[in-house]
Amino acid sequence: MADNKAKLTIAETSVDLDVLSPTLGSKVIDIRTLGSKGYYTYDPGFTSTASCESKITFIDGDNGILLHRGFPIGQLATESTYLEVCYILLYGEAPTQEQYDKFKTTVTRHTMIHEQITRLFNGFRRDSHPMAVLCGVTGALAAFYHDALDVSNPVHRDITAYRLLSKMPTVAAMCYKYSIGQPFVYPKNDLSYAGNFLHMMFATPCEEYVVNPVLERAMDRIFILHADHEQNASTSTVRTAGSSGANPFACIAAGIASLWGPAHGGANEACLRMLEEIKTVEHIPEFIKRAKDKNDSFRLMGFGHRVYKNYDPRATVMRETCHEVLKELNLNDSLLEVAMELERIALNDPYFIEKKLYPNVDFYSGIILKALGIPSNMFTVIFAIARTIGWIAHWNEMHEDGLKIARPRQLYTGYSERDFKSEIKKK
Ligand code: SDX
Repeated sequence: MADNKAKLTIAETSVDLDVLSPTLGSKVIDIRTLGSKGYYTYDPGFTSTASCESKITFIDGDNGILLHRGFPIGQLATESTYLEVCYILLYGEAPTQEQYDKFKTTVTRHTMIHEQITRLFNGFRRDSHPMAVLCGVTGALAAFYHDALDVSNPVHRDITAYRLLSKMPTVAAMCYKYSIGQPFVYPKNDLSYAGNFLHMMFATPCEEYVVNPVLERAMDRIFILHADHEQNASTSTVRTAGSSGANPFACIAAGIASLWGPAHGGANEACLRMLEEIKTVEHIPEFIKRAKDKNDSFRLMGFGHRVYKNYDPRATVMRETCHEVLKELNLNDSLLEVAMELERIALNDPYFIEKKLYPNVDFYSGIILKALGIPSNMFTVIFAIARTIGWIAHWNEMHEDGLKIARPRQLYTGYSERDFKSEIKKK
């Protein structure tokens, strides 16, 4: 609802624009009528552009606040479970015990995948990056689950939400098992969502794998911390793909592809590699110097954020979880020492202070995941499992709000019209 106006004056033309008010955060100028006046706005990377209206997640980057349907991430991470957060993101309210039990049972009962899909893996090299396999297999799910692909049907969208939420850990664990040449492990319905994932990752036919409750809790908390984050690059990708009416499996595969980039979800793997490259506290200054050097493409992985100009609240919880896991496993990871010292130096360095660069969600997650025995090429896969619910919630919200195909305009600076003269001798 517009509660005041903006006037845009360009030469002799002036345009009255509505200013729309949010529940929280910045007001937005409704520029939808500008196109009919012959003007477009220009904002590569959408640094100042709201692409949609949403009720799912809110981030206050200046104050380091993250709310899912109004609930602060710190409370959810310590008092909730990932499946309860999934329910909240999907349906907007915390579930009653009865609603939660039904939701959990339905998710548990959909964790198996069509047996034919296991053959799909044989088309990949064993040394394929698991994100490449996850992206391919997720897109291929549309070839197996086409009985509920009418995206305009809310019942079909609900069925697909369950299928994706339930099957992503199964497919992800299969990507890992395939890469190490071990047999796939079937889901077990008597385990929790996180426990089942750890079991599918680390169990073998040779002996019983007992899930460590501390690691199970840490895994569940990592899923919660990565569940959703407003209109980040991969969620915007899912919305754009879905805006054409594309099937949800294809849209989620597009989200996985976008998440893989090192500037986004690939940063956790890149951050661990960076810490391993730094190796010792003594080497930190040279890397800080490189991160500040305009002529060096090196950036401090796990630092900085388009929205957070303060501590990423997820990084705070992640840091605490990191200490818990290393203590439980009685591990002294030298990388944690490097990470803590790197954080201390960066947070006191004028460059990082002026540019408001703080540790983000990816800074500590790699150390925890490594401690859980997960290889670094699986880190972004873990992120994709967790973010699937966020992608689905936004994809669903877009359909509920009425589909409008995403079709941005451009600032054209190419040739004006000119005659074509071929230099090629036609056979
Ligand atoms: C995620 O959007 C989301 O919500 C994402 C996410 C989610 O949950 O979905 O939170 C998950 O993707 C977290 C971010 C993970 N990426 C990294 O850790 C990679 C390292 N970070 C940078 O690549 C960067 O900070 C971004 C991509 C995260 C943000 O980039 P922006 O907003 O486009 O900012 P920018 O690149 O314009 O940087 C502003 C300035 C630049 O200097 P100047 O050109 O102004 O002189 O800060 C500098 C940058 O050079 N800068 C860094 C830096 N990040 C920004 N310098 C050194 N190291 C860094 N990490």
